[in-house]
Amino acid sequence: MTMNLLPKVELHLHLEGAAPPSFIKGLAKEKNIDINRIFNDDGSYRFTDFWEFLKIYEAACTTLQKPEDFYRLTMAVLEESAASGVIYSETFLSPDFCGGRDLGAWREYLHAIQEAAAQAEKSFGITLRGIVTCIRHFGPEKARQTVHCAAETVGNFIVGFGIAGDEKVGAPKDFLWSFDAAREAGLRLTAHAGEWGGPESVRAAIQDLGVERIGHGVRAIEDLALVDEIAEREIVLEICPGSNVALGLYPTFREHPIGEMFHRGVKVTVSTDDPPFFHTTMKREYDMLNQAFDWDEGVFHTIAKTSINAAFCDQDTKTRIAKRLEQVHE
Ligand code: ADE
Ligand code: ZN
Repeated sequence: MTMNLLPKVELHLHLEGAAPPSFIKGLAKEKNIDINRIFNDDGSYRFTDFWEFLKIYEAACTTLQKPEDFYRLTMAVLEESAASGVIYSETFLSPDFCGGRDLGAWREYLHAIQEAAAQAEKSFGITLRGIVTCIRHFGPEKARQTVHCAAETVGNFIVGFGIAGDEKVGAPKDFLWSFDAAREAGLRLTAHAGEWGGPESVRAAIQDLGVERIGHGVRAIEDLALVDEIAEREIVLEICPGSNVALGLYPTFREHPIGEMFHRGVKVTVSTDDPPFFHTTMKREYDMLNQAFDWDEGVFHTIAKTSINAAFCDQDTKTRIAKRLEQVHE
């Protein structure tokens, strides 16, 4: 099966996390920033665990200093996604890294990102939407500033609000004010949970924040009553198997719980998270899942349909993308 030809929908992608190391190295050189320490000798990103990953991720972001940098980044990322067969993508955008949560600056960064998205749609046939994301270990006060940026720019492009970062720091309810404000502004909600925290962390995100999607959520598998509840309530999991394996959460794809989750009726979707950090692409995720679970085109078609149904964009866009999923690709 030629996985890159299957049309794909990706719901969980961090824009900065999708920056190839060569791209960040190029920006660092242009700006005379010394960040060689974040790269291995072979040019790949250097980290050994999640917490080190977060540190070098933030170091890489120091090279992204202007709206123009984000224009170039968005174009590069969408070209790569389209080459993997992605036709619709939702990306996490952090005002923390786009002008330090200042609303005026955020508007300029967002404008550049949207311009690139419009160009990429014409050139590569891929549609992008944005989910404004606060960062858990930056704390609730910065999240309030972040949701302010989100609420002021909600629309056709900015469609959701989420939280990423270190799940071991604080609790979902610390961010209740921000999630309530986002909901009131008309944003759809998702939260990273059940990656470094266990089932109780997933429960807290669902119950305390009222999210309709969970980023990762895989550790819900440690409590089958919770898995049943997720399936019953049709909460969608944005699962990133390659990310989980690369960060050591599961030793191999075969031991990753996505297979059992799918089997138990959970609405699972497949994404890359931060593809160059984890040496992956959407095509590779599909290849690895095909090998690990013998999933065929039928399963991947089901997953793509689940994904577009769970997308945060407007109904016209969903209908248009859903039609493209039905087209046979040779
Ligand atoms: N930010 C970027 N990637 C992340 C991940 N996998 N978990 C939490 N925060 C992130
Ligand atoms: Zn993520």
